[in-house]
Amino acid sequence: MQRLNRIVWDNALSTGDPGIDDQHRVLINTFNELADAVEGGADKDNIGNIISALKFYASWHFAREEECMGKYHCPVADKNKKAHAVFVQNFERYEKEFAALDQVADLAFDMYTDLADWIYNHILAVDSKLYHCIHPTPGPT
Ligand SMILES: [Fe+2]
Repeated sequence: MQRLNRIVWDNALSTGDPGIDDQHRVLINTFNELADAVEGGADKDNIGNIISALKFYASWHFAREEECMGKYHCPVADKNKKAHAVFVQNFERYEKEFAALDQVADLAFDMYTDLADWIYNHILAVDSKLYHCIHPTPGPT
């Protein structure tokens, strides 16, 4: 099996809110656990447990982050909400397929590749916009 790329935290992912950043680190670690399980040939139950944890945590985190963007009147708040809904939809599509299969390795591989890539790019392109809403650059005096 081809090796999966792990997501590595870097400062470009920072949102300026330590709580949200910690939640992103938990999400990234859980995605990386999924990659370890898939590469290690874990069985359906083990992979299924990680997928359930990931879904629960991602949904909980999305709600916290949406609140935070609302509080700081972040211009990408709506875009962020819509993107989260798309993520949940894709996740549920994979979950359904996963439940129907006996051999889950290939699907879990695709699921990780697709969703981990999505989450990294989403944090980088959308969530990081929070930074300047929380810490606005002072204008000319
Ligand atoms: Fe987000």
